[in-house]
Amino acid sequence: MMDTQYFIVTILLCLGIILLIQSINTYRFRNKLSLPPSPTALPIIGHIHLLGPIAHQALHKLSTHYGPLMYLFIGSIPNVIVSSTEMANEILKSNELNFLNRPTMQNVDYLTYGSADFFSAPYGLHWKFMKRICMMELFSSRAIDRFANVRTEELRKLLVRVMKKAEIEESVDLGEQLKELTSSIITRMMFRERRSDSGRREEVIKMVVELNELAGFFNVSETFWFLRRLDLQGIKKRLKNARERYDVIIERIMKEHESRNHKDAGGVRSMLDILLDIYEDKNSEIKLTRENIKGFIMNIYGGGTDTSAITVEWALSELINNPEIMKKAQQEIEQVVGDKRLVQESDLCNLSYIQAVVKETLRLHPGGPIFVRESNEECAVAGYRIPAKTRVIVNVWAIGRDPNQWEDPLEFKPERFEGSEWKVMSEKMVSFGAGRRSCPGEKMVFRFVPLVLAAVIQCFELKVKGRVEMSEGSGSSLPRATPLVCVPVAREGIKSLFSLEPKVNF
Ligand code: HEM
Repeated sequence: MMDTQYFIVTILLCLGIILLIQSINTYRFRNKLSLPPSPTALPIIGHIHLLGPIAHQALHKLSTHYGPLMYLFIGSIPNVIVSSTEMANEILKSNELNFLNRPTMQNVDYLTYGSADFFSAPYGLHWKFMKRICMMELFSSRAIDRFANVRTEELRKLLVRVMKKAEIEESVDLGEQLKELTSSIITRMMFRERRSDSGRREEVIKMVVELNELAGFFNVSETFWFLRRLDLQGIKKRLKNARERYDVIIERIMKEHESRNHKDAGGVRSMLDILLDIYEDKNSEIKLTRENIKGFIMNIYGGGTDTSAITVEWALSELINNPEIMKKAQQEIEQVVGDKRLVQESDLCNLSYIQAVVKETLRLHPGGPIFVRESNEECAVAGYRIPAKTRVIVNVWAIGRDPNQWEDPLEFKPERFEGSEWKVMSEKMVSFGAGRRSCPGEKMVFRFVPLVLAAVIQCFELKVKGRVEMSEGSGSSLPRATPLVCVPVAREGIKSLFSLEPKVNF
């Protein structure tokens, strides 16, 4: 009896000592570690007055004074800004598990049926299941191969449109053309669009553009805690209206896909067909809801159309302004492909300079200039305390221009990505994020962006008056301030491929 009592008392004593040590450590941690450096904040607005219309540029400027890890208040919301490769690695790799969530943003949360999508879903069973579907079914190499014809056909349509302009010596807005190309490809991959569905693309795209604008709209009630219950901007009504209209369009498309007629039509299965199969599968490990699918469609349009188009547009702008680099890129295509046929996806493994041009473009003009995560628990990063539920803004744009990492950081030099070091160099950029929550579309981007770029410069010389203006506009996917408008001139030798338009040999 005495022995048992003695045993229990000893165990309780040990537990007490452990708890005491833990609380002393937490107390020390809290009091020893300071928050990352921060400029002086103003009452109520915090640091909002320091952010210009182009957030990544303003944050970059601040980071040159306050360092690669900065603490800022946007209204009542605490944020840590990450502006170097080392700090990005600390957050995204060394402390990965603590930063796998994205913050809940009111506009996005409402539009995505309460974060039922993939992009804003919390890191948990649903997100893990969708990630597996992405990597094994939707964006695996085999899945990307299935849509090779779609990419080829849509690229051919773009080249024919530009060729028509070349024939009448008229200028063309390449940015617009490229957006049309990427949204057509995504629509055909998502819905297996047929000729009879031609109005669908415009309808869905217009709707998604509106949703994206609303998602990024500055929400005053969310930013200032004392306005939380008010809707001074009438945003709730706009969000409700937009989501209802989106729902009607997508529900109709989903019903069409569920019909026998559609199922019996055969052909390559679209992404929506695959998702609906999982939705109908009673034995599926995770039950997908219709809202999960609708949210996912929003993500793929939101993440996959403008980003890729804008990357090609910036790459062409850099090449036009750097004729030597343009010449080297065109020579590589001539050597690998010749002038009897157009460049195709299977050539890409031999076009290392074109690949380097794309990487250098992503360094200086990343299609996602900033991305956001959130800390789950309080932790220490590089000797600073990061409180729980702090928004973490990774400034990809600043990381690509960090003079400690890149020689002549503002120069466009694709050569830095040539040779054996290219992989290490690419990882330094975090253009597609890092770790489990990184971009699932990266493989597709590298299949498609270099191909479009190579095809355009293989076929055309692009003439502009003077130099291309390189200012950035505002927008989440780094748009140019002014569209890339130029007069295309068909290159010698290539003309014959277009002689019996629209037949082009691929
Ligand atoms: C040049 C083109 C692109 C760039 C620069 C880009 C960049 C990014 C970045 C920086 C992130 C955040 C990663 C992180 O938090 O670590 C992201 C996430 C994402 N991207 Fe992309 N992306 C591109 C193209 C695409 C494409 C083509 C698709 C799909 C068709 C896509 C779908 C997504 C999705 C669904 C996520 C969310 C992943 C998650 O939360 O788990 N992106 N992308």
